[in-house]
Amino acid sequence: ARLAILLSGRGSNMLALAREVRAGVLQGLAEVAVVFSNIPEAPGLAAAAELGFATASIDSRGRKRSEFDAEVVAKLQEFQPDYIVLAGYMRILSPTFIRAFAGRILNIHPADTHQHQGLHAYEWAWENRLPETKITVHLVDEGLDTGPVLAQAPVDLRGAQSLADVERRGLAVEHRFYADTLARLIRGELHPQTPASTATALPQ
Ligand code: GRF
Repeated sequence: ARLAILLSGRGSNMLALAREVRAGVLQGLAEVAVVFSNIPEAPGLAAAAELGFATASIDSRGRKRSEFDAEVVAKLQEFQPDYIVLAGYMRILSPTFIRAFAGRILNIHPADTHQHQGLHAYEWAWENRLPETKITVHLVDEGLDTGPVLAQAPVDLRGAQSLADVERRGLAVEHRFYADTLARLIRGELHPQTPASTATALPQ
């Protein structure tokens, strides 16, 4: 399967996916068709180029969402992706975008999307002193972190000492779990749950 990985910042999830594509659970299952960013100077984009991946960017600043997204869709289609993999892509997708890749857009959210949507999910877990949080991989719809859940993984936060500690533990899970979930999806082992039936994680 051909992946288009979209990011806006650091790109640690993109790097983890790239590692698993080259020598891990995604080897032979997936290839990186392109890494795209709406922020041309995103560190993750430079990191992807250094790894030898095709990269593309279109600056989203000051752009109207529907027009910007139409341009992004056209750009991504040049790379013929099977899946659009959001990895820290800080944009809500317009209906145009969703329709262009219906059912093939994934996102990773560092919380249970039924409990927390949007930014600052690790801050939320830390401030509420949660003993556990969940990483969610879900299909993307027109809402903010509202699409059907593909899988969730727990993060043990007991004894966490700081927000940095919470983030470190969470990212370690994210980096394994995104690739694992994508591999299961590509192999046809995962069937998205409707929002009403997502109370528990899928069996691992
Ligand atoms: C991750 O925590 C991801 O779950 C969230 O945004 C962050 C992106 O980090 N959607 P990175 O750019 O992959 O390092």
